[in-house]
Amino acid sequence: MAVDDLAKARSDFADRNPQSHKYFDEARKYLPGGHTRTVLTHDPFPLVFVSGEGSTLTDLDDHVYIDMLGDYTAGLLGHSEHRVIDAVTAVLKTNASVGGIHPAEARLAKLMCERFALDRVRFTNSGTEANLMAITTALQATGRERIMVFHGGYHGGILYFASGAAPWNAPYEFVVAPYNDEVETLKLINENADALAAIIIEPMLGSGGCVPLGAEFAQTVFAAARKVGAIVIADEVMTSRHGARGMFNLLGVQADITTFGKYIGGGFSFGAFGGRADLLDQFDTSPEANRDRTISHAGTFNNNISSMSAGCVVLGEVFTADVAVAHTARGEEFRKSVATVLARHKLPVSISGFGSMMSLHALALAPQTANDVANRDSKLQELLFFGLLERGVYIAARGMMNLSLPLTDDQLAKVLDALDDTLKILAR
Ligand SMILES: Cc1ncc(COP(=O)(O)O)c(C=O)c1O
Repeated sequence: MAVDDLAKARSDFADRNPQSHKYFDEARKYLPGGHTRTVLTHDPFPLVFVSGEGSTLTDLDDHVYIDMLGDYTAGLLGHSEHRVIDAVTAVLKTNASVGGIHPAEARLAKLMCERFALDRVRFTNSGTEANLMAITTALQATGRERIMVFHGGYHGGILYFASGAAPWNAPYEFVVAPYNDEVETLKLINENADALAAIIIEPMLGSGGCVPLGAEFAQTVFAAARKVGAIVIADEVMTSRHGARGMFNLLGVQADITTFGKYIGGGFSFGAFGGRADLLDQFDTSPEANRDRTISHAGTFNNNISSMSAGCVVLGEVFTADVAVAHTARGEEFRKSVATVLARHKLPVSISGFGSMMSLHALALAPQTANDVANRDSKLQELLFFGLLERGVYIAARGMMNLSLPLTDDQLAKVLDALDDTLKILAR
């Protein structure tokens, strides 16, 4: 793959998108890098979207894309799910905020507890906060200080383990274990047995390249963690969309605390952590509670009425357990179709994932670990991205695709054609 090919792809992209380019030149004066969400950026500049409809997006230069990114899983409902928009609009007609308890809060809590088998739940504004609070819950409950995390894991901007612990992470004592490596992980659990407060793990590395966790690994490691008195935190911020009760349920395990985010807010900011009553009740402030131990968790917008009202419609009406099961199966089918297209070409490109979340990799074989993901051919990866964009398909620059509910069969067929065509051109 010649470097010139990539330079040309970038410059063709810039030529096709003069308005986005112009926007970025201006935005960079006020926003470092021209944005406030690192994941959206790529060279030479990202597209600026002005509107969305169903599963399409329109950019500043008037190009219409099939949205295969689904806002990194937050956009599960697409861009115009009117049941959510109408419910939130109805609430907002009278108030943007009540500055106190609103009935939608307990309604959503009930829906979440019933759906995901939680005793109790608390809300936050983001998945990052949910994970920070879940870690706090474990630290307070155990009186210990170490947290086991996994190489390639992502739990938020300051809980970032793409290549080990990032230097800017929140200042916890982390033990970084290798994802899907049972022997080494068990060794680390035993070495840290007395100090381990919790392990936090995704059932599939999401940001880390859609690498699913083995069911046996999950079962063995959850049991080993509990044996040494550590609390198991499942990060299902992205993956709670899979199956009726989230992805760990499909792997046959239940965590002590599970964290949530993304699509449950229906496009509004959202996070939650929930699980065992004895752990969550550390937040109990009722007169019967042991108030000497109460963890204070204020949060001005934890129960904001837009997110709470949206969440009730998302879980109660739009993305019911039955819809979730069907969507997972649809994703599995689509990933197989992608693999069939890839097999027609001789390029080292593979697909990994589970259900409606997947990632294209410039690698001959689908990755099993974060190290495999790090070994991708970065030029080919970028050329794939530009090839799909040029053909009207929007995915993550790093290859991630997340199916939204409104994607039609016709749109998915167009995506497969675009991929086929891109690979054909790249193979020349
Ligand atoms: C698995 C996982 N956990 C946590 C987060 C952080 O969520 P948020 O961006 O809402 O803070 C993300 C975000 O991508 C995620 O993928």
